[in-house]
Amino acid sequence: MSALLNNTKSLWRRSIRLSKDSDPKLEADGKPGADHLVTIAVIGCGQRGKAYTTYALAFPDRCKVVAIAEPRPKTQKHFADLHKVDQTLVFKTWQELHTASAETIATVGKKLADAVLIAVQDHLHAEVAVAFADQGYHILCEKPMATNLMDCITIDRAIKDAGKIFGMGHVMRYSPYSREITEIIRSGALGELINIVQVEPVGYYHFAHSYVRGNWASQDSSSFSLMTKCCHDIDLICHWFYPAIPVKVSSFGSLRHFRKSAKPAAAGNATRCNECLAEKDCPYSAKKIYLDPVAQGNTDWPIATLVDGLPDIENITEALNQGPYGLCVYESANDVCDNQVVNIEFSNGSTASFTMVAFTSAICDRQTRLHFSHGEIIGDMNTFTVNDFRKRLSKVHRPESDGGGSHGGGDMGLIRSFVDAVLTNQQDLLGTNVNEVLKSHLTVFAAEASRRDGVVVDCVEFEKTAREKWEKANI
Ligand SMILES: NC(=O)c1ccc[n+]([C@@H]2O[C@H](COP(=O)([O-])OP(=O)(O)OC[C@H]3O[C@@H](n4cnc5c(N)ncnc54)[C@H](O)[C@@H]3O)[C@@H](O)[C@H]2O)c1
Repeated sequence: MSALLNNTKSLWRRSIRLSKDSDPKLEADGKPGADHLVTIAVIGCGQRGKAYTTYALAFPDRCKVVAIAEPRPKTQKHFADLHKVDQTLVFKTWQELHTASAETIATVGKKLADAVLIAVQDHLHAEVAVAFADQGYHILCEKPMATNLMDCITIDRAIKDAGKIFGMGHVMRYSPYSREITEIIRSGALGELINIVQVEPVGYYHFAHSYVRGNWASQDSSSFSLMTKCCHDIDLICHWFYPAIPVKVSSFGSLRHFRKSAKPAAAGNATRCNECLAEKDCPYSAKKIYLDPVAQGNTDWPIATLVDGLPDIENITEALNQGPYGLCVYESANDVCDNQVVNIEFSNGSTASFTMVAFTSAICDRQTRLHFSHGEIIGDMNTFTVNDFRKRLSKVHRPESDGGGSHGGGDMGLIRSFVDAVLTNQQDLLGTNVNEVLKSHLTVFAAEASRRDGVVVDCVEFEKTAREKWEKANI
C-alpha cells in the first residue's frame, strides 16, 4: 500500500515538473518561441553522455537535461547534481525511465522530455532507440546505430514511423574542420572530387584501452572494430562524395598483434601487468597507461573510465588487480581487428581508400588527402592545406575548434544542430537523416562482409539482400 502511495506521489511530483507541452512550440514563422528550450533525457551518463551535455550547461536557455538513467551511483549523483535534475526524474536504468515515461504519457499525456540522448553501450542502442521512438521522443543516438545490420534496419523503420528528429553521433561531420572542407568540395572550386585517402591512427594505448581490454574488445559484446571505431570515417567519406553512392567495397584486416602468439617470452605465464617481468619494456603496460598518470594527478580519460566516481591510486590499483584493464594485452578476451583497410568505388567512378590502424602515436587525428580534378586538400583534422592547381596557390586553413569538446568541436556541433533541429522541427539542419545514416552503416557492414568472406561486395546488391532478409524476418 505504501509503495503504491509513494509511486502515486512520485508520479504527481514528476508530472508537475513536465513542460506544458512536451514538444517545443513554434511561432507562426516556424521559429521556436523565445521561452522554449529543448528538454533532454540522458540515457547513460558516461563519457559521451557527459560530452554532449556540456552544451546544456553552456547554453541553459536552449537546452536542459531534465531526466537521467544511470546505474553507477556516484556517476548518477554527480550528473544529477551538475544538471540539477529533480530526484523523481533520476533513474537507474533506461527501462525504469521508459516505464515512468509510459506512466506520464498514459496519465497526463506528457513525455518526460522532448528528446532522449542515447549514450549507453552499443549493444543497447537498438532496443533503447526503438522503445523511445515508439513513445514519440526525438532521438540523438551515439554511433554506431546498432551492432548488427538487422537492428539498424529496425531503427530506421521505427524512426520513420515515429516521424521525429533523428541525430547520429557521426560527430566528425559537425566539426568546423570538416564543415569547411565540405564547403570547398560543394563549391566546386577545386573541380571534381576524384579520390580520398584517409588514415585513422587509433593510437597504441587507446587501442589497448578500448579495443583490447575495454568496451569494444569483442565482437560479441559490441561489434567489429571497423564499425565501433570507424563507422564515422566511412560516413564522412560517403558524405564528401555525395550525391555519388558507394557501389563496390573490398576490405582486408586482421588481429595481427594483440594475441597470445605475440606475447613476449619474458612475460612468461603472467596474465596481469602487476605480475609481469616484462612490464617495464611493454608499451601497453597497464601501470604506464593508468597507474603512473593517476600518481601524477592525471584523472582524465582513459583513467576516469575505470571507476565510478573520482579515480585515485587505491581504486585504480583495485581496478587493475580485479578487472579487465589490468590484464596483459596478449591474454585479454579480445577478437577485433587491430588493422584494417577498406577500398570503395563510388557510382561516378571516384574511389576512396581508408586505413584503421592501432599502432600509432597520434590518437585519432585522421590524416586525410582529398584529390580533385583541379586541386587537393591535405589535412590532419586540425589544419588543412588547399593546393589550387588553377591558381597555383597553396593556403593553410586553421578552422577554430568550436565550443570545445572532443572531435575538433564536432561534439558541440552535433548537439547544437540537434537542438536547433528539434526547436524548429527541421531534420535538414542535421544535414542527414535516418535513411542516410542507415546507408553509411550498410557500407561498413558490406566492408566487413568483404573482409570476412574474401570477396568484393556489390553495395547495391548487399543492401537489397539485407532489406529482403529484414522483411522476411518481420512479416
Ligand atoms: N561519437 C563518438 O565519437 C564516440 C566516441 C566514443 C564512444 N561512442 C559511443 O558512445 C556510446 C557510449 O560510450 P561511452 O564511452 O560514453 O561509454 P561509458 O561506458 O562511459 O557510458 C555508458 C554509460 O551507460 C551506463 N549504463 C549501462 N547500462 C545502462 C542502462 N541499462 N541504462 C542506463 N544507463 C546504463 C553506464 O553505467 C555508463 O555510465 C557507445 O555506444 C560508444 O560506442 C561514440
